[in-house]
Amino acid sequence: MQKDSISESVIRRLPRYYRFLSELEHTGTERTSSRELAKQLGLTASQIRQDLNCFGEFGQQGYGYNVAALRRQLELIIGLNRTRAAIIVGAGNLGKVIAANIDFAAYGFRLSGIFDIDHELCGKEIAGFMVKHMDELEAFCKEVHPLVAVLCIPQEAAQETADRLTALGVSGFWNFSHCDLDADRSRVQVENVHLGDSLMTLSFRMSKD
Ligand code: NAI
Repeated sequence: MQKDSISESVIRRLPRYYRFLSELEHTGTERTSSRELAKQLGLTASQIRQDLNCFGEFGQQGYGYNVAALRRQLELIIGLNRTRAAIIVGAGNLGKVIAANIDFAAYGFRLSGIFDIDHELCGKEIAGFMVKHMDELEAFCKEVHPLVAVLCIPQEAAQETADRLTALGVSGFWNFSHCDLDADRSRVQVENVHLGDSLMTLSFRMSKD
């Protein structure tokens, strides 16, 4: 199946499958079934089979899935085996937390630089990186070719900055700025993150009775 035709809900479930299989592998489990996975993940067995069938035939009738092999396949499907250079734009509270706490390498990325416009912050060290001024962005991108930018800047600056980065070859945005970026989705991938959405989901679940 073409990657473009994979539904958003399947894409959203892949990291959960990967994470759960990694935990199983870590505890020495060699084999599992769609029924066992479904029980643990709160899905149905047929849902899991259908999701995995989008990418090929992984299980064997009567055996189920080999945990390590399926985890490795998902690693390839999600693209975790690559190393894409990434930069953080905005070295404030959020940028600092992300730089210090996200294990980019575990997800197929290599943090390569941190940028800001605040002269007070530039030159300071965060997570082993010297914060660079946005004036250095063009020269940096020509040399390092980052493919991904983590936007941790105010909403008002996000679109203009994303356009500038796109022109410099960035094709993926992990966007924490509270705005929906206008991007040509055939060339540029955007993952908007709103922690508040998750909190609203919790609120809904707690309120629905
Ligand atoms: P902050 O004010 O501590 O940091 C923002 C940084 O961006 C500052 O260092 C500032 O100098 C820099 N900046 C401003 N314009 C810039 C530009 N054009 N280029 C490069 N750097 C620029 O703010 P904080 O707490 O780090 O939050 C950053 C953004 O993330 C805010 O817009 C906030 O609303 C949003 N946010 C989003 C969350 C989410 O779940 N999506 C969670 C928390 C914050």
